[in-house]
Amino acid sequence: MAEAFAAVDVIATKRDRHELSDAQIDWVIDAYVRGIVAEEQMSALAMAILLNDMSEREIVRWTNAMIRSGEKMNFSCLDQPTTDKHSTGGVGDKITLPLAPLVAACGAAVPQLSGRGLGHTGGTLDKLESIKGWRAQLRNDEMMSVLREAGCVICAAGNDLAPADRKLYALRDVTATVEAIPLIASSIMSKKIAEGTSSLVLDVKTGSGAFMSDLSRAERLAETMVRIGNESGVNTRALITAMDVPLGLTVGNALEVEESLEVLAGGGPRDVVELTITLAREMLELTGLDGVDPADALSNGRAMDHWRRMIRAQGGDPDAPLPRAQHVHQMQAPTSGILTRLDARAIGVAAWRLGAGRARKEDSVAAGAGIRLHAKPGDAVRGGEPLLTLHTDDPQLFESAMQAAWSGIQIEKTDDQPLVERLPLIIKRIR
Ligand code: URA
Repeated sequence: MAEAFAAVDVIATKRDRHELSDAQIDWVIDAYVRGIVAEEQMSALAMAILLNDMSEREIVRWTNAMIRSGEKMNFSCLDQPTTDKHSTGGVGDKITLPLAPLVAACGAAVPQLSGRGLGHTGGTLDKLESIKGWRAQLRNDEMMSVLREAGCVICAAGNDLAPADRKLYALRDVTATVEAIPLIASSIMSKKIAEGTSSLVLDVKTGSGAFMSDLSRAERLAETMVRIGNESGVNTRALITAMDVPLGLTVGNALEVEESLEVLAGGGPRDVVELTITLAREMLELTGLDGVDPADALSNGRAMDHWRRMIRAQGGDPDAPLPRAQHVHQMQAPTSGILTRLDARAIGVAAWRLGAGRARKEDSVAAGAGIRLHAKPGDAVRGGEPLLTLHTDDPQLFESAMQAAWSGIQIEKTDDQPLVERLPLIIKRIR
């Protein structure tokens, strides 16, 4: 079959700052998946997009072409409305764990496809895999049965969901083109739209520990994704939220599951509870269930009940003890004063060096590794008292983890009325 276009002409169109036509976009994505457009040609096109941007029309068309490269899931046979949340990821971001069962307890169905961590940010599936027996890989019929049983399911995306994105994302990772906003927005939204949810809340993080550390870029990404979602029939909203400081008091897989259980039991750190409830309210509003108060479902144990059902339905034992690291080491405050800085990226890198994260996709993670925080910016600390407890299976990793952590910590004397610069937890709503 003769091809409709030549890849070089499509690349040249973007190189010369022209818009790609709908037909060019549809062809290039399809031909890339078929192996007609070579990896080096797609790399050149991705770089041209990074340098010369895309119009809104091009981004929506590109997203739809990636959706069409695979299957589209359909939850219309369920009695309840479906809703989902996507976070661009951060340090200590365990919100999906309490949020999915909480929203299920309030009456919506939550089909949540999640990913694994890479670099200094953790992945939801890695966290849940610290629960004995729990399975991330489900067939579509299994996913549906967990959803019927528990009202929520958190699992890995199957290979048939937006395969063009899977191929392109791997290429972007090695060609310095991950950062292009049109490519990030279409990558995230193609998977979320193919997943078949009817509404979606995006948690776009900004600050040192976020993928988009710059606020104006985070805003542009959020606005682009909200537009793609709404134009594709998925009722979509975004919150821009803080990731200058780790979320909660734990960073690391099993440690974060433990903290999520505290939240589901009606306790837990204030910021984790506030963000969980805020996102739940947004999700419920989008599904028309806004008369229900998610805070009640945390305090009366209904969210915990849905969590236990979900974990069991995915082969896990909700009562099994969580793995613990073999070695711990306390970092103590060198002086008394106010903790003015606890940088999310530095703490994320420290947890990663302790074994909580992976450097390459093939690496495994240590379930018990991570960091427990004993103070947050604005708190008074006393010299000699614990600031952080580091957890690892390999004590040789303490030194380099401490180096990373100290680089992100600042304590100032109380007499100087130190200024604690912190982003507000919820920075902006985009509808
Ligand atoms: N997450 C994705 O799924 N895609 C991107 O491009 C970036 C983050």
